[in-house]
Amino acid sequence: MTALFVTRRLPIDVRAEAPPEIEVRVFGEDRPPTGSEIAREARGCAALLTLVSDPVDDALLEALPTVRHVAQVAVGYDNVDVEACRRRGVLVTHTPDVLTDATADLAFTLVLAVARRVREGEALLRSGRFEGWSPTMLLGVELSGRTLGVYGFGRIGRAVARRARGFGMRVLYTSRSGAPAEVEASLEATRVPFEALLEQSDVLSIHAPLDERTRGRFGAAELAAMKSGAILVNTARGPIVDEGALAAALAGGHLFGAGLDVFEREPEVHPALLGRDDVVLLPHLGSATEAARQRMARTALADAVRVARGEPPAHVVPELR
Ligand code: DGY
Repeated sequence: MTALFVTRRLPIDVRAEAPPEIEVRVFGEDRPPTGSEIAREARGCAALLTLVSDPVDDALLEALPTVRHVAQVAVGYDNVDVEACRRRGVLVTHTPDVLTDATADLAFTLVLAVARRVREGEALLRSGRFEGWSPTMLLGVELSGRTLGVYGFGRIGRAVARRARGFGMRVLYTSRSGAPAEVEASLEATRVPFEALLEQSDVLSIHAPLDERTRGRFGAAELAAMKSGAILVNTARGPIVDEGALAAALAGGHLFGAGLDVFEREPEVHPALLGRDDVVLLPHLGSATEAARQRMARTALADAVRVARGEPPAHVVPELR
């Protein structure tokens, strides 16, 4: 019987949904297991169902020689050393598509929350300091007629662009390869160099994967090159933005505000950001709808079942295709 180790309780009952030929073991506590706990509890397993909080590195693979498949329950898989998996002949799959709208909704929630100073307004009201309507209180910025810059124009970036079009925004984007002409046409989106994206975006939303090319991509120089009064939103991966530099750019008044769902040293948040009123901070909720999280778990499980049955999985990560 093939055994599968699930590193965290998921929003579906994996044991009940897996076919009888697969033995499912689930980590017993509702916290990310350490590498040595995974190595101990997954001993003898053929596959792991992993989450963004599980570092799957060469040492773990070495400790688990029976593992042939890492089924990541997320679209991003920067926690998995894909090169080490390739060397060891371990398959890596992920869960694209099923969380696109959930994540784009959350990115746009942050855009609106920062632009309209939702956090400050709510805090004012709850503190009992609201003394009635004022023509000058908490004035924000309008989105209509402004420019959205999308850094990374894959599924989620395009879904955010679609939302922005509904708000009357112009769309610019930067990506490694250009989008097909019909996608550009339907979103009226224009591909521009990174420098132009920084200079022209009123709202800049990050949707690129974390890798060596994107790590630290938004540092002090890039933030300084952004349009004055712009909003930065990051729902991709924290290390793409230098949080200390972002806090400094906000403190200097160069940016209007920022919305962050992901952090450089997650779950820690840079202390200089925690104290700022112009920053909306969320605890990595991008895909956190019940439906999206269930689809993610089922997509990963379906690939684990395919691999266990000797069939090709549906969502191998691009580097291993
Ligand atoms: C992903 O899928 O990469 C998300 O960050 C997890 O919600």
